[in-house]
Amino acid sequence: MNRAIRFERTGGPEVMEWVAHAPGAPGPGEVRVRHHAVGVNFIDTYHRGGLYPVPLPSGLGSEAAGVVETVGEGVTQLRAGDRVAYAGGPLGAYAESRVMPAAPLLKLPDGIGFDTAAAMMLKGLTAQYLLRQTFVVQPGQTILLHAAAGGVGLIAAQWARALGATVIGTVGSDDKAELARAHGCAHVINYRRENVVEHVREITGGRGVPVVYDGVGKDTFFASLDCLAPRGLLVSYGNASGAVPPFALLELSNRGSLYVTRPTLVHYTATRDALEAAAAELFDAVASGAVRIEIAQRYPLADAAIAHADLQARRTTGSIVLDV
Ligand SMILES: NC(=O)c1ccc[n+]([C@@H]2O[C@H](COP(=O)([O-])OP(=O)(O)OC[C@H]3O[C@@H](n4cnc5c(N)ncnc54)[C@H](OP(=O)(O)O)[C@@H]3O)[C@@H](O)[C@H]2O)c1
Repeated sequence: MNRAIRFERTGGPEVMEWVAHAPGAPGPGEVRVRHHAVGVNFIDTYHRGGLYPVPLPSGLGSEAAGVVETVGEGVTQLRAGDRVAYAGGPLGAYAESRVMPAAPLLKLPDGIGFDTAAAMMLKGLTAQYLLRQTFVVQPGQTILLHAAAGGVGLIAAQWARALGATVIGTVGSDDKAELARAHGCAHVINYRRENVVEHVREITGGRGVPVVYDGVGKDTFFASLDCLAPRGLLVSYGNASGAVPPFALLELSNRGSLYVTRPTLVHYTATRDALEAAAAELFDAVASGAVRIEIAQRYPLADAAIAHADLQARRTTGSIVLDV
């Protein structure tokens, strides 16, 4: 018998239960994967808490790495023994083993271990589409990245620097500022006590930045708009502080014909070709050393609720991995 985390009602971390779980045999197009490491992402807290509603009861988690145990009918691209990782598919990554569709699974290059893979797939593919697709960062540009010491933050900051950008990062503590500086940020602003807009204007000689990457949401939304140069783009890709409430479109016109997008990874990896192309760039960025994956916290899978509490209390940096 295997075990997994499930929840029957939405709420705080206490709704997460460590239960017996029988994954069963894979059906057509499916595989059974034995996990070696599982990734924790902020989106898992939105599913658990009800911000992103899911049918209940439900498993939790969208990112893990492990070994294929059995393949179902019609699965030709994978076989038992393959080392794989994924970001996406049905919820249920917080499990010792599981059955899932083969479609989101990627074979792991030899140089990337299970822990690193579980720490980088969802956050790294997100960094890839943000920097290379939503707004294509060019050498010489100065960009603003919120929560730069977080999971997506540390990866995106390093990657943007490798692309030749000057990265301004925001963080919530002095320790996080040091970490962000060590991972690609040329300038760091502690947004708990410093004025972000003033600092960004100062750093950019009054011009503002062409793009802001904002995973914080509610608390930073208008400051992010105020940091943009005319016709700049706000990429509002998350809600760590809460969802951005409705706002008047005139706010964009008044601030300089601005653009806003609210993207999500699933639409950037909707086809197998798109997923493979993004993953190839991510694996290259890590293999070349341009992006180092920092696993700053580890917890036993059974203690995933503690990981959630720490993540939501802003006690974590970089990636969180659950040991299976
Ligand atoms: N749209 C997509 O495709 C996509 C994909 C992946 C992730 N995301 C989003 O990207 C963001 C980062 O995800 P992650 O998993 O890497 O998490 P994370 O950045 O490791 O954790 C969130 C960070 O947000 C900051 N924060 C600011 N205000 C906060 C508040 N009121 N409560 C909690 N945290 C707050 C904290 O850093 P400081 O203490 O430094 O402020 C915290 O560490 C999340 O919003 C997530 O939903 C979106």
